[in-house]
Formats: sequence, C-alpha cells, structure tokens
Amino acid sequence: MNSRRQFLSFLAASPLALRAQDVIANPKDALDIMDFEEAARRNIPIAHWAYMATGVDDDATLHANREGFKKIRLRPRRLVDVSKVDTSIELFGTKWPSPVYISACGSQKAFHADGEIGTARAAKTKNAAQMLSTVSSTSVEDVAAALGRPPWYQMYAPSQWAGVEHMVQRVEAAGCTVMFLTVDVNPGRNTETQKRLSKSDTRNCASCHQATPGSNSTKPMFAGIERGMNSAGSSWEFFDRLRKLTRMKLLIKGIETHEDATLALEHGADGIVVSNHGGRAMDDGRATIEILPEVIEAVHGRFPVLVDGGFRRGSDVFKALALGASAVGIGRPYLWGLGAFGQAGVERVLDIFHAELTLTMRQCGTRSVTEITRAYVV
Ligand SMILES: Cc1cc2nc3c(=O)[nH]c(=O)nc-3n(C[C@H](O)[C@H](O)[C@H](O)COP(=O)(O)O)c2cc1C
Repeated sequence: MNSRRQFLSFLAASPLALRAQDVIANPKDALDIMDFEEAARRNIPIAHWAYMATGVDDDATLHANREGFKKIRLRPRRLVDVSKVDTSIELFGTKWPSPVYISACGSQKAFHADGEIGTARAAKTKNAAQMLSTVSSTSVEDVAAALGRPPWYQMYAPSQWAGVEHMVQRVEAAGCTVMFLTVDVNPGRNTETQKRLSKSDTRNCASCHQATPGSNSTKPMFAGIERGMNSAGSSWEFFDRLRKLTRMKLLIKGIETHEDATLALEHGADGIVVSNHGGRAMDDGRATIEILPEVIEAVHGRFPVLVDGGFRRGSDVFKALALGASAVGIGRPYLWGLGAFGQAGVERVLDIFHAELTLTMRQCGTRSVTEITRAYVV
C-alpha cells in the first residue's frame, strides 16, 4: 500500500504526467495543433477514438509521416522585406487564402454531434477548401448548404457500376466540380490499433451505426446504392471509365510513386494527391513528404500535385510547398479540433496552421507561395 502511494505521488510529480490543467479547455488556449489531441481524446468514446488514431499493422507508416519532416531543414534568406506575406494559392480557378485544405475523413459525427456540418461551418468562416468523404455521416447536399458552396468530393467507388453512375450524378447535381478518387485502400488493410483499443469500449454504439432511412447503409451517400466499395479488382480501366463519365475535375488520391503519377497523367487525371491515407492503408510505406520529390520531378508541372499525411506545423506545410506541392491536406488535426470543441476547434486549427505558415514564410524571406522553392529546404 505504502509503495503504491509512493508510486502514485511519483507519477503526480513527474513532469511527464499530463495534469488536468495542462489539457486545454478553450480553443484559444492552444499553443499548437498537438494541444488539441489530448483535449479531443478525453471527449471521444474510445472506439471512435480508435478509428481516428489507428494506422495499420505496426503503425509504421503513420509514424514515418511525422519522421519524414525531421529529415528536411530550412534555408532562410535574410534582409528581405517580409512586412507583407501572402499565403494564398489558386487551384482549379478558385483562389484560397491558405494552401491548407480539409481532407476527407469519414463518419465525423463519431467525433462531435455536429459532424461534417461543424467542419463545414468552420471551413466557411475561414474560407478553406473542404473535401467530403463518401463515408461521411452527412450528405453532400447538407454539407454544401452549411459550407455555402459545394465541397470537393472524395469518392470510394461503389462496387457496382450502376452505383458509380448514381453517385456521380448525385454529386454533380449538388454542384461539385472537383472529385478525388481514393485508390489506396482497394487491396484491403489491417487496422490493428483500432481493433485493440476498441476492445475496451463495451458500450452499445448502435445509435452511431443505424442505417439512414431508405438505405441499407449507415452512410447517406450510399442511399439507393448497393453495398460494397473499393473493389480489389479495380484497375486503370475503371479510372478510364470514370474519366469518361464526368466532366468534373478528377484527381486520384493515394499515389506513392512516380510511375503511378505518370500513369495518372497519361490517363487524363486532373491532378493527384500524394497520400498514404495518413498511414491507414499499407504499413512500411514511406513518408509522403519523402515521396513528393520523385513525383514532382515526373509530373513536371503538368498538373497539380497535392499532398497529405502527418502535417502538424506551418513549417511542415512550408516544406511541402518548397518541394513543389500545390496544396496540403490535413486529416487528424481538424478532427481533434472538432472532437474537442466542434466548429470553434476546427477554426482554431486552421488559424494556427495559417499563423505558423505565415511566420515560417517570414523567417525564410518568402513573401508569396510562388516564392517558396527548393532553394529554401535541404
Ligand atoms: C478518421 C479518418 C477517416 C478518414 N476517412 C477517409 C475517407 O473516408 N476517405 C479518404 O480518402 N481518406 C480518409 N482519411 C484519410 C485523410 O483524407 C488523409 O489522407 C489523412 O488523414 C492525412 O493524414 P493526417 O491524418 O496525418 O493529417 C481518413 C483519415 C482519418 C484520420
């Protein structure tokens, strides 16, 4: 008993122990993005947290994404007038105040009652691009209404072609002009961390997983569509068929090699996202920031190359821009903001990215995104 008490007081005194007062209670208190992680973890049911936090197998790709940034250093230039810095970019004819966009994450009501609507309201306030997932807990029509414009749409291809046509027509009718086909989970995956953590959540979670009316799926975007998606049998032929089906800008999300980047060009894609699904698709993969140079070299400016995976600092965003990325997607950071504080949390996450990127641009002597080149990293 005595030794247990001693152990507990040692823990309490340890600088490593996270005390309640160290966990932010207000989005304004956050000093950086990581401050949202613990605040969100405390709010979210364990099984839902597990779904967000998981990588695959040993979570090696998940960790590699972060480690990749440490291998790249900045080369600042001095005595440049950086009193005015412009972080804006243009993509597909639209000007965005920041290169940081909200990437597709499914089932956001699992993290906050407002779900994708909370995210959309934050994106609207901050004028950020929002990509909506096929497995969202809110329909594309409702998100478009909250966002004040149609979101970018991320497609997990329904297994039957009739379902693909149905989904494309619905998304086009909602006014979407940009669609991303995610291709990195087609072979299947083993979300082991999710499975382990979920075991300790014994609650009945049926309320989160009930089918939407008129559908055999819990996901509104599958209403009227037969179950099943992301067929392991998908090939470039599928992409060609999809390409012919729609006039939306069509990008491929989940490219990890220069060979596939070149194929995407040859098959008429309008761009790609260098992504490993935030380390949630295949293990023992490379950090996306390490993949970027070979892809940029192969593409040679012929279409936009977006990137996501492990971005937590404005300086991470700067590094990707320096290596040639057109825009940078975030996943878990805004989910932490949403889970901890709803819309206000997502807004603060976007603000922190903006403030940190602006500071890094100043420190490096770059006044616009086009001025950020490979000369600023080593
Ligand atoms: C909880 C969660 C759900 C996700 N759902 C999807 C999805 O439905 N479609 C998709 O293309 N990517 C999905 N992703 C991947 C993200 O779009 C993005 O590629 C990844 O989260 C970026 O890495 P980061 O979380 O380290 O920022 C999801 C990621 C997370 C964390």
